[in-house]
Amino acid sequence: MHHNPSAPDYTVGILGTGLMGQGIAQIASQAGLSVILLDAAPGAAEKAKAQVGSVLNMLAGKGKITQEAARQAVERISVADSMAGFADCHLVIEAIVEKLDVKCAVFRQLEEHVSDDCLLASNTSSLSITEIAVACKRPERVAGFHFFSPVPLMKVVEVIAALQSAPWTGDVLAELAKRMGHAPVRTNDSPGFVINNAGRGYPTEGLRLLEESVAAPEVIDAILKQAAGFRMGPFELLDLTGLDVSQPAMEAVYNQFFQEPRFRPSVLGRQRLAANILGRKTGQGFYRYQDGKKVEPPLQSAPFTGVSPVGTRVWLGQGPEEEKKLVRSLLAAAGAVPDTGPAPRPEALCLVFPLGRDATSAALAEGLDPRRTLALDVFCGLSTHRTLMTTPLTGKRWSELAQALFSADGVPASVIHDSAGFVTQRVIACIVNLGCEIAQRRIASPEDIDRAVTLGLGYPKGPLALGDHYGPRKILAILQELQAAYGDPRYRPSPWLTRRARLEVSLLTPEA
Ligand code: NAI
Repeated sequence: MHHNPSAPDYTVGILGTGLMGQGIAQIASQAGLSVILLDAAPGAAEKAKAQVGSVLNMLAGKGKITQEAARQAVERISVADSMAGFADCHLVIEAIVEKLDVKCAVFRQLEEHVSDDCLLASNTSSLSITEIAVACKRPERVAGFHFFSPVPLMKVVEVIAALQSAPWTGDVLAELAKRMGHAPVRTNDSPGFVINNAGRGYPTEGLRLLEESVAAPEVIDAILKQAAGFRMGPFELLDLTGLDVSQPAMEAVYNQFFQEPRFRPSVLGRQRLAANILGRKTGQGFYRYQDGKKVEPPLQSAPFTGVSPVGTRVWLGQGPEEEKKLVRSLLAAAGAVPDTGPAPRPEALCLVFPLGRDATSAALAEGLDPRRTLALDVFCGLSTHRTLMTTPLTGKRWSELAQALFSADGVPASVIHDSAGFVTQRVIACIVNLGCEIAQRRIASPEDIDRAVTLGLGYPKGPLALGDHYGPRKILAILQELQAAYGDPRYRPSPWLTRRARLEVSLLTPEA
């Protein structure tokens, strides 16, 4: 059988016609492919065909596609009653229950019914394609084809090469993905592939901040959205996905990498899962939901008006000159008086600007009084959401004054507890580091890593471009400080990052 992914008669079998199978059937039939559906549950494949038909008709009703296109797409879908119906398929995509032994058995069975070079692909999100291929007589024709939900809207698909996959399998799947309007991302078989590997940094570091009582979930979410440009906060995201899905996914990637600390999940997640505090679906997660809507907790970062900061003397510690210039002008506009002597006067508020360190370390390093010192995050968000951080001794009056000064122009300012690297620096450094490690392990090309993450996770930039944006040297410095502060190998920098930071080149630079 010759594989020509643009042939009009290219035929795709879909085994398992639940949520994912239906989505794949829809985009395949819309792309002009012939689709054959099969499911183990009686009547499920017929129901799936009807469901895809009603989605296509709805799209036609809204004018997104023509009635004729909808009719033709439905006509291209047929239903098989056994695997014998897959005899003429060029490709079979498996989207059944996520169990390795069941998938292996099904692949073995499939081989008895399909032609010798029919491509066999699994839509698994967490199992090893290599282990599935092992079950087959012809493992070289097995590959991964990992779509995301909802399939028609999530326009990215991971094309996964098992250790045994012949190169043509990836080439054919990548072409088919494009024909279906999806961006293919080529990846080697590795736990979580690219997207579910790269996506572990955001929720796990968010949970770690919560575990350390750095700030409440809504404050961490607000900082990451407003200061760092993420579309959703980690806790909003966890609530949306549901801990019943995300906690096992976090644990699976962690364990498949043999307890790699960079992926370490949080005990908070396990406890909440046990207590059925899952998120939106149970009405209670990190937020409360009423009639399906999030109940917004009052934000302590709202512009602070409790005290008048006018006339406050402010002494600035060491930090990057450009950002300090902006800080000086913000303070002047809020009515503060600069304290410019060689040492702070006794009545001055002291501000420090650490990178990767906590407020305590920065205050002590500069010989400042920790009771009236706060740290300000100048890494990002100075114009959108300011983050102030106290030492364990900072007096309430000083933190209220600082919050009033930095929210005087209406931009929100949050006060968090001491944390090496505030919120943004830690979370961003972890995301960049995981992306670098994916590149280092050659799981995917630098461009594909960034493409996968922007399309699959909706981050403002891919992890490597994100690192370039903030500066590889800064990211490296943050991770080194974090590793020193916590003594935790979780933060050890990837050699991909270390080398490129030292060479002062982009993190997208491949090996020559
Ligand atoms: P689902 O539960 O909606 O559908 C699974 C379908 O497979 C059901 O219709 C079931 O009757 C059928 N099935 C189960 N065992 C079978 C067998 N031995 N032979 C034939 N049919 C069988 O599941 P969903 O969500 O569609 O997931 C399917 C696969 O896609 C899983 O491997 C999952 O990990 C993966 N996936 C799921 C995503 C999601 O967001 N739900 C995202 C990406 C991948």
